[in-house]
Amino acid sequence: MAEPHAPPVLATNELTYQDYLRIPELLELQTPRADPPAHDELLFIIIHQAFELWFKQLLHEMESAIRAMDVDRVLRAQHHLARVGKIMRLLVQQIGIIETMATAEFLLFRDRLNPASGFQSIQFREIESLAGLKDPQYLEVFKNRPEFRDILERRMGQRDLNQAFQDLLLRSLAQDGEGLQEALVRLYEHPDGNLRMYLLSEAMMDFDEALAQWRHTHVLMVERVIGFRRGTGGSAGVRYLETTLSKRCFPYLWEVRTHLQKRGS
Ligand code: HEM
Repeated sequence: MAEPHAPPVLATNELTYQDYLRIPELLELQTPRADPPAHDELLFIIIHQAFELWFKQLLHEMESAIRAMDVDRVLRAQHHLARVGKIMRLLVQQIGIIETMATAEFLLFRDRLNPASGFQSIQFREIESLAGLKDPQYLEVFKNRPEFRDILERRMGQRDLNQAFQDLLLRSLAQDGEGLQEALVRLYEHPDGNLRMYLLSEAMMDFDEALAQWRHTHVLMVERVIGFRRGTGGSAGVRYLETTLSKRCFPYLWEVRTHLQKRGS
């Protein structure tokens, strides 16, 4: 028997960690452009790539949540959305890492990435679309790049969380003639009447709130790092980002709070 502390030796032909996860390829994907090299450019690249990986996972979970809602698997949908919420909260935290970059450091390589910008992240727009925020204005951004435009256009045509959730709510909760608002008021005044739907609804809220927090945290970081300069993506920068802060994926879930009355449980 091998010593308990002896490291197990890899066999020549067995699958390894590096193979399974394609680590060598992954580590080839960071190519700083600044000349002379700028220390913080690697961080800037890695943080964006890490975001894009998590965006991919978010889309995967959101698609499953929609499918689960469509076949009345309420807790299954809740399970996927709870994960979506946790990932979004992690992404809010990640902004704190890039905030350690001094303005002067960023300026050493900022002109090398111009006119690229997070504004052009297709996966971010896909997340918004799958959550129900489908703004055709953003398709225009890619009008000269059909390979990107097609991805987003397909996503905008797809069934989204908003539609799936509203249909499920009306199917499982609404009484005769009742609309979304009335059904939601009843759900929120008496969560125990349909606890599964209540938990799902709150998982939707967690995600929506975390996305709004991401927008706030991102704009504050941007102001701290570049002030009120124009964005590399060509927008007015902070002033543009501020206009996105009031966006909500599921406005009716926020709205319902205003209409609740004190009730016996
Ligand atoms: C030094 C760091 C960063 C700066 C200075 C910055 C700056 C900006 C600016 C000025 C915009 C507005 C569009 C433009 O004109 O470019 C923007 C949009 C955006 N950025 Fe960043 N950003 C930074 C880091 C990040 C990171 C790490 C992500 C993660 C993926 C990100 C994702 C986005 C997204 C998704 C948008 C579009 C938001 C919307 O349209 O609602 N940014 N950023």
